[in-house]
Amino acid sequence: MKLKQSFIMALSVLSVSCVADSDDNSTSKDVLSTIHSRKSVRSFTDQSVDKSILIDIVKAGMAAPSGMDRRPWEFVIVEDRATLNKMADSLPYAKMLVASPAAIVVCGNIDQDMGGSFYWYLDCSAAAQNILLATEAMGLGGTWTAAYPYEDRMRVVSDALNLPENIRALCVIPIGYPTGHESPKDKFNAAKIHFDKW
Ligand SMILES: Cc1cc2nc3c(=O)[nH]c(=O)nc-3n(C[C@H](O)[C@H](O)[C@H](O)COP(=O)(O)O)c2cc1C
Repeated sequence: MKLKQSFIMALSVLSVSCVADSDDNSTSKDVLSTIHSRKSVRSFTDQSVDKSILIDIVKAGMAAPSGMDRRPWEFVIVEDRATLNKMADSLPYAKMLVASPAAIVVCGNIDQDMGGSFYWYLDCSAAAQNILLATEAMGLGGTWTAAYPYEDRMRVVSDALNLPENIRALCVIPIGYPTGHESPKDKFNAAKIHFDKW
């Protein structure tokens, strides 16, 4: 009887951990090591990225703080090659989109009556940083490429993605598996820290 009970317990522990594994694309990198190893990645291998991984990365974006908790963000996951190429063609500093298998476009709702916020770009920047960190933590690479505040670049993204009038593009983040070409920069500068007063 005891043996049977232990067997059932072992089975249920195993099934719980299997569910956790299949649901969870996270790695064991701790937060600080992820922060310090993040870098802009602009060269990618040919490997595609599972949609479930892209969705997990967007979930990390949605965990960001936002003013008055308004969460004015919207995210467009782009895997369509023609759309990626179209944005690469017209965005001057996002040419790497031709080589990335996917991109996440972080957008914000500017209409306060429709759940937006007048500082959407701040909230969406917090979401974008979470996305970059989650990307790094999952062994992928990405780069923030600017749409906002450039009207012409925002228009390119709006047209390519058919965004509604109240939705603005903050940035386009090409995502893929890194070739290993890029490495993190050491940006620590003690002179930038001020104690109690300037
Ligand atoms: C607001 C913002 C706009 C950026 N725009 C671009 C861009 O259009 N194209 C690009 O290749 N990198 C862009 N970057 C990435 C920066 O060039 C990069 O973060 C910086 O050189 C530091 O390098 P690191 O990310 O590897 O630490 C942008 C970053 C930020 C935060």
